Amino acid sequence: MHGGPVADAVFADLAPRIDALVAAGHTPGLATVLIGDDEPSARYVGMKMAKAEELGCTSPHVHLPEDATTADVIAAVEKLNDDDSVDAMLVQYPGPPQVDFDAVLMAVDPDKDVDGMHPANVGRLALGIPGPVPCTPAGIEAILAHYEVPVAGRHVVIVGRGVTIGRPLGILLSQKRPTANAAVTLVHTGVPSWADYARQADILVAAAGVPGMIQPEHVRPGGVVVGAGVRYEGRKLLPDVDEACEEVAGWITPRVGGVGPTTIAMLFRNCVEAAERAVGTAGG
Ligand SMILES: NC(=O)c1ccc[n+]([C@@H]2O[C@H](COP(=O)([O-])OP(=O)(O)OC[C@H]3O[C@@H](n4cnc5c(N)ncnc54)[C@H](OP(=O)(O)O)[C@@H]3O)[C@@H](O)[C@H]2O)c1
Repeated sequence: MHGGPVADAVFADLAPRIDALVAAGHTPGLATVLIGDDEPSARYVGMKMAKAEELGCTSPHVHLPEDATTADVIAAVEKLNDDDSVDAMLVQYPGPPQVDFDAVLMAVDPDKDVDGMHPANVGRLALGIPGPVPCTPAGIEAILAHYEVPVAGRHVVIVGRGVTIGRPLGILLSQKRPTANAAVTLVHTGVPSWADYARQADILVAAAGVPGMIQPEHVRPGGVVVGAGVRYEGRKLLPDVDEACEEVAGWITPRVGGVGPTTIAMLFRNCVEAAERAVGTAGG
């Protein structure tokens, strides 16, 4: 289950919507805030700005120095909150240790929160109220839907209850919608028998950030495996799912080019939806 074609389908859906917004006099804007000079963070932000340009969105950028305080970052965020040309914003994380990223997140206008991580948006997700949905979980649902993997009524086991993937994905896939509606089990370090659950999964999602944690013996033969958790050692990417799982799984995401491309696609979907809400065209 390569993520590239799924992301392409999302971008193809967004293109006419972006055109319609531009025609209506509102070019969608995704702002980025980078603190310091961490090279991977700068590369990640640069990639998103390039994609914004390719899609015809604006991408105002704020670059704060390495010694920026929490107050400096909040001041930048508040300026973007007040800027009508900015529909969504992303404060690149991680950043310098003196910056309180929880306080920064609280300062973001929830309607411009492109990652869907503001408590108001986590609440919307839990309550089933429309709003920006966390990008990686939304991308995982899109991958399963694209490859027509049945989810409704099936057993999804998620390894990891982190706030970026496991917890929001559990909420998303248990919602009463045709591409969700699953029985969801979340396992974590508090469940020593997590492997027993994993082996029962119709769909196993690895979201722990423990390289090689998922081995073939954890996969039900013919089952579906989604590898989302990764750890970086320098530029080297170390996935949770061991490559030998390919021999056992029926469907599996590749070690590179699986969940990542769809995460970026969902970032732009959240941005365009925020722009549509801002001009009152949401839902067509
Ligand atoms: N592919 C992408 O686009 C993408 C995007 C975002 C994040 N990620 C990756 O996804 C992973 C998860 O991120 P996150 O922020 O959601 O989670 P997180 O905060 O890193 O938490 C990891 C979760 O895995 C569980 N876990 C760790 N070791 C375990 C073990 N040995 N046995 C069972 N459970 C274990 C932890 O359990 P406890 O709660 O008990 O500690 C925790 O719930 C990270 O590797 C991150 O780098 C990937």
